[in-house]
Amino acid sequence: MQPKGLSTKSVLAELKNMQRIDQHYDNGKILCSMCTKPHPLAKKAYEMFFESNLGDSGLFPGTALLEKEVIQALATLLHGEKAVGFLVSGGTEANLMALLAARNASKIEHPEVVLPQSAHFSFTKICNLLNLKPVYAGLDSSFRVDPTEVKKCISKNTIAIVGTAGTAELGAIDPIDKISEIALRYGVYLHVDAAFGGLVIPFIKDFKPNFDFNIEGVKSITVDPHKMGMAAIPAGGILFKEANALDLIKTETLYLTDRVQYTFVGTRAGAAAASAWAVFKALGKAGYQKVVGDCIKNTKLLAEGFEKQGFKLVVEPTLNLVAFRSANTKSLAEKLRAKGWFISYLSRYDCIRIVVMPHIKKRHAVAFLEDLCQIEKL
Ligand SMILES: Cc1ncc(COP(=O)(O)O)c(C=O)c1O
Repeated sequence: MQPKGLSTKSVLAELKNMQRIDQHYDNGKILCSMCTKPHPLAKKAYEMFFESNLGDSGLFPGTALLEKEVIQALATLLHGEKAVGFLVSGGTEANLMALLAARNASKIEHPEVVLPQSAHFSFTKICNLLNLKPVYAGLDSSFRVDPTEVKKCISKNTIAIVGTAGTAELGAIDPIDKISEIALRYGVYLHVDAAFGGLVIPFIKDFKPNFDFNIEGVKSITVDPHKMGMAAIPAGGILFKEANALDLIKTETLYLTDRVQYTFVGTRAGAAAASAWAVFKALGKAGYQKVVGDCIKNTKLLAEGFEKQGFKLVVEPTLNLVAFRSANTKSLAEKLRAKGWFISYLSRYDCIRIVVMPHIKKRHAVAFLEDLCQIEKL
């Protein structure tokens, strides 16, 4: 820190310089992120509530109400009539809270959790933190977890099974209803990681895979407004089917206006809750159907374009995520990167993965296909 403060003008100028180095969503070149440019009202709401701390919510009862309403909206969307929950720092913390509840509910000395091979890497961190042994279940040909494999992974030490509704790599939706049957049969906790898919699947026309609290065995769901919800970061969401799960994750606070906390982080951004609330109100179901509908249209446009150019899709896209490969995918990925496109190269599937978020417009998809075509001609 320099000895004396700088003028507002020079501080802002330095910030602008740094911001210039950052990538921005508007040019449509970011095709690898599960976050997007927040809705304009998210920004306004964030600014209005930027002082607010949900970690001491007795001081900010208005913000606490906003959080409650966001959670209620998510619970209704995901058929959890009695569901309770919180906005947290992201999908990682949401998954952590779910597995903490599962671990604390069990008396097993060496607990294990059954994870699909496609589970998000946040579970690696969580297993480390909670001292859980991950046991990985294999996938079927559509990259969804195979229930037979899940069953084989169950042991006397299993405390939980995780399923994903919208995997980060390929957008696959695990057969949650089948996994639920296994969870119920063996009396283990079932958590659904719908960090991405939870605000996509319900809004896709004529597409109703069952993945939420409708399913008996599902005890908790991660669903993040800061991904397809277009809220400002940090707005992850954790929902528990029954309020009694909260007793499993509560910590007493010694000096705050709240006597207990149920989240891993203490100080929490009230502004993120306000931003999620504002976007939910501004868009409503119809607004999200339009946002998701446009993303799906652009995904289809890309998928068809890839096939027309002779590339092979890894799997037919169901969500707004598409992956393809060529004869030399890694080198193609490098060439696309050199042309300014931010895409993911997934070595384990040898494919290029594209997430078609709301900031990707039709013109960006068309420009990407044109560049791809040019690279192939060289
Ligand atoms: C399915 C899934 N789960 C968990 C996460 C982790 O979320 P976050 O990065 O917000 O912690 C992601 C992130 O993309 C995700 O796609």
